[in-house]
Amino acid sequence: MKFQYLEEIDSTNKYAREKLSLLQDKTVVYTFKQTEGRGRLQRKWNYLGQDNIYASIVLKPDNEMKEVYANMTQYLCVILSQVLEEYGIKPKIKWPNDILVNGKKISGILAEGVIEKNVLTGLVLGFGVNLNASRELLEEINQPATSLNLETGIPIDCENFLKKLTDKFFLMYDKFIEEGFLLIKDDYIRRAGFLNKAVTVRVFDKELKGIAAGILDNGALRLIENNKEHVLLVGDIL
Ligand code: BTN
Repeated sequence: MKFQYLEEIDSTNKYAREKLSLLQDKTVVYTFKQTEGRGRLQRKWNYLGQDNIYASIVLKPDNEMKEVYANMTQYLCVILSQVLEEYGIKPKIKWPNDILVNGKKISGILAEGVIEKNVLTGLVLGFGVNLNASRELLEEINQPATSLNLETGIPIDCENFLKKLTDKFFLMYDKFIEEGFLLIKDDYIRRAGFLNKAVTVRVFDKELKGIAAGILDNGALRLIENNKEHVLLVGDIL
């Protein structure tokens, strides 16, 4: 694993994608000042000040498109939850990869594949974690949000958090590539806050409403809409 610190950048994901050919496999690009962070569903990722993490893990697989890459965000989501738990809080996962505490978002993940000539040349796994945010800035976000300092009542050391997280991520990484989602399925489900509840799922430009009935062995969401079953590999619970 290597770290690349950027003093200020528009988006660590954008930077990592643009500089992909110069970055080694398992490089963690990070900054404490990200000015134009991007999220899923064309959302932006607000800048909440220098005491929060904005980072992207660069992965350069061996040019072979493996099914497991589709589950990489769920893997990061479990690892992030485990690190947050070390601070004494109880995060919940919203499929596929949002992390909430008491119904408020504390972390988001944006995975972007770089494909050249039909070959996956890299995967940029971006994540933001609210570690030390003020209530005022959190209120400016267009969905309920929280941060670790507010949940624990103590200031959080960002460098230390990032080190814990990335160490844990790469400790199990090779095993995860070998074994796939099944390796983390139980850990994922234990933290899933959405199961057996009524949910709305955005899938591309469609919205499906139903009961989140389960998570399959490949990480897909089983959604029951009236009496119709959907097995969703992509999408976002809204
Ligand atoms: C989401 O919840 O919609 C995903 C948010 C991902 C934000 C992170 S911050 C670091 C990296 N760079 C970006 O521009 N976005 C991701």
